Amino acid sequence: MSTRIALVTGGIGGIGTSICQRLAKDGYRVVAAYHPAEQGNVEAWVAARKAEGLDIGTISGDVSSAEDSARMVAELQQQFGPVDVLVNCAGITRDKTFRKMDADSWNAVINVNLNSVYNVTKPCWDGMIDRGWGRVVNISSVNGQRGQFGQTNYSAAKAGMHGFSMALAQEGAAKGVTVNTVSPGYIKTAMTAAIREDVLKAIIDGIPMKRMGTPEEIAAVVAFLASDDAAYITGANLQMNGGLFMH
Ligand code: CAA
Repeated sequence: MSTRIALVTGGIGGIGTSICQRLAKDGYRVVAAYHPAEQGNVEAWVAARKAEGLDIGTISGDVSSAEDSARMVAELQQQFGPVDVLVNCAGITRDKTFRKMDADSWNAVINVNLNSVYNVTKPCWDGMIDRGWGRVVNISSVNGQRGQFGQTNYSAAKAGMHGFSMALAQEGAAKGVTVNTVSPGYIKTAMTAAIREDVLKAIIDGIPMKRMGTPEEIAAVVAFLASDDAAYITGANLQMNGGLFMH
């Protein structure tokens, strides 16, 4: 079997980095996609991975744009080969109560967190179907399952991701392509570090395990879903939230 190629969007972010590391250790040829605005961090990120003994490719693209996503995937496939595993991990927050939820904050989160899933999966999909093997893993959130005060935009986008997974899973099921969702709870990353301290403390107090999760814990589940062992799982939503929400 030739080396499988994995594209991870949000690849140099908190959870994305761990997913890249884990898939690279598992033998995939991994490419981390990053937003052009993150360009300044890429060199150091690649160097840090090299120091860990991991050779991970990178590619720039704005996943909220269908055109730029198509361009990015085309360039990637030319440089590295066809995408076998796609992890849609790019995501942002613009938390505010609905009273303060302006259209820009709404649209930014829907575009980056949900429309990106269409934008990036679309140019990868036909190849997976034609080759008869593929994995799409969408990184959603516990807050897409249960809602969260201050996150109408984010909760809507994250819930939408799983609707997408369930629908596309049916289209890929007979063709060797699985589509699944992973719904992390509160994970130790820069995103959760931005939550006001008192709010975060109250959230952690409400988690039955009384701790945040780690990006490595999420990466382990993504690696499982990407593997041949998970061939019979499709349209599923695997939740990892320390017991915060049980469904
Ligand atoms: N449920 C009900 N009421 C709540 C509440 C809750 N969960 N949280 C706050 N309130 C109430 C407050 O008690 C307060 O009431 P009064 O006006 O009567 O005093 C009112 O709502 C305003 O609360 P805040 O002071 O918090 O309002 P704010 O405007 O200063 O802050 C906010 C709003 C920025 C949304 C803030 O509440 C917040 O940061 N919340 C956390 C949002 C969150 O969990 N984000 C997750 C980010 S990480 C992530 O998204 C990753 C992932 O997938 C999990």
